[in-house]
Amino acid sequence: MTDRWTPASWRARPAKHIPADYPDPDALARVEGELRRMPPLVFAGEARRLKTLLADVAAGKAFLLQGGDCAESFKEFSADNIRDTFRLILQMAVVLTFAGGKPVVKVGRMAGQFAKPRSAPVETVDGVTLPSYRGDNINGMEFDPVARAPDPERLLKAYSQSAATLNLLRAFAGGGYADLYNIHRWTLGFVNDSPQGARFRELSDKITESLAFMEAIGVAPRTHPELARVEFFTSHEALLLGFEEALTRVDSTSGDWYDVSAHLLWIGERTRQLDGAHVEFMRGIRNPVGLKVGPTLEPDELLRLIDVLNPEGEPGRLTLYGRFGADKIAARLPRLMEATHRDGRQVVWATDPMHGNTLMANNGYKTRPFDRILAEVRSFVEIAQAEGVHPGGVHLEMTGQNVTECVGGARALGEGELAMRYDTHCDPRLNGEQALELAFLVSEKLKSQRAEASLQAAE
Ligand code: PEP
Ligand code: CO
Repeated sequence: MTDRWTPASWRARPAKHIPADYPDPDALARVEGELRRMPPLVFAGEARRLKTLLADVAAGKAFLLQGGDCAESFKEFSADNIRDTFRLILQMAVVLTFAGGKPVVKVGRMAGQFAKPRSAPVETVDGVTLPSYRGDNINGMEFDPVARAPDPERLLKAYSQSAATLNLLRAFAGGGYADLYNIHRWTLGFVNDSPQGARFRELSDKITESLAFMEAIGVAPRTHPELARVEFFTSHEALLLGFEEALTRVDSTSGDWYDVSAHLLWIGERTRQLDGAHVEFMRGIRNPVGLKVGPTLEPDELLRLIDVLNPEGEPGRLTLYGRFGADKIAARLPRLMEATHRDGRQVVWATDPMHGNTLMANNGYKTRPFDRILAEVRSFVEIAQAEGVHPGGVHLEMTGQNVTECVGGARALGEGELAMRYDTHCDPRLNGEQALELAFLVSEKLKSQRAEASLQAAE
């Protein structure tokens, strides 16, 4: 992998999960050319800022909260959906900050999370076989041959939806919505009358009290504008490399290449081959990048991937997301953490407790049991502590909407209720109430783990 890198050098490598069957390749090339002329969605300086914050996470001084839809879609696009996921992330961040006493770095799986790797390239229904749905920026979900053909115009629509989403997120983050003085207004309607809603109100009361105290001693938004805004970043899986290449530009400040489609990009579990196109593309951009780490990865291969993706050992550059499944994490994660720790690798270790815990309900719905998601996070925290590694963050598929996609949680959502509001365009997401509940339970786990660690240190 020492060959010269260019934004297009991935094209000479084997590329998995990128559609090769566009009916009109010239039309695709035309659209990519058009995207090359589009303004950046994010700025290189913002990506560098996120890298600095992730370096704090790597050093154990902060915690990463990353979440959003499994797949964004054209159909579910609305200001309300964006606002609800954004404020859910704020609520969860407050819960985690309060428990951990550390800043929480907030990253949405938003404003560009469209393309999906699929386990099967085709789908058969009633004897008819069509290409699988691959995400709204590639083809349509409806089961008909026209919708399922890859259409390059969808890339332009995804670009403009991402721009509009980012525009709103920037307004929410900087324009007063995220003001801590508004904390009581963040509670989502349907979460309000749940046990989580009550717990969150208690916490907001405490924060409001502290703010009043701080104001009395002269610390107020007028003098400390950071009280009235949050830093919020975007991320998606860099799957569709033609799109990513078109949005990769030289930053005029540093002279380095940045993929300006999002602040953070990650490589999925299915496209992390050392000699593959995705690793080749990602090694050359200077954004913070992520790598999904699943049950088949061996320590040697992980270290080689780190050599390629973070050769200079830059802290904050690389985040590893373990995604093993509650039943596999204990057998697989310790040796990987041990290897990075022993070798002194500067990485963020985070957990994605969603993708190893997917199962098929008896009624045919793909679902994830809340208990297994929680169990994987708990094991992650325990293993990290045993290995002397900072449990740096969580990566979740979730929505502010009141969907019924994951079973369990405080309301004990059952398989029979999955059909009620099963809206996901791909994998099952935690709903607002389940996500907030998870944040409370994770914060308790982090707190008890810290108490245990300081007890051990005192002995
Ligand atoms: C995802 O994050 O949506 C995903 C497909 O994850 P993984 O690559 O870990 O399976
Ligand atoms: Co997913």
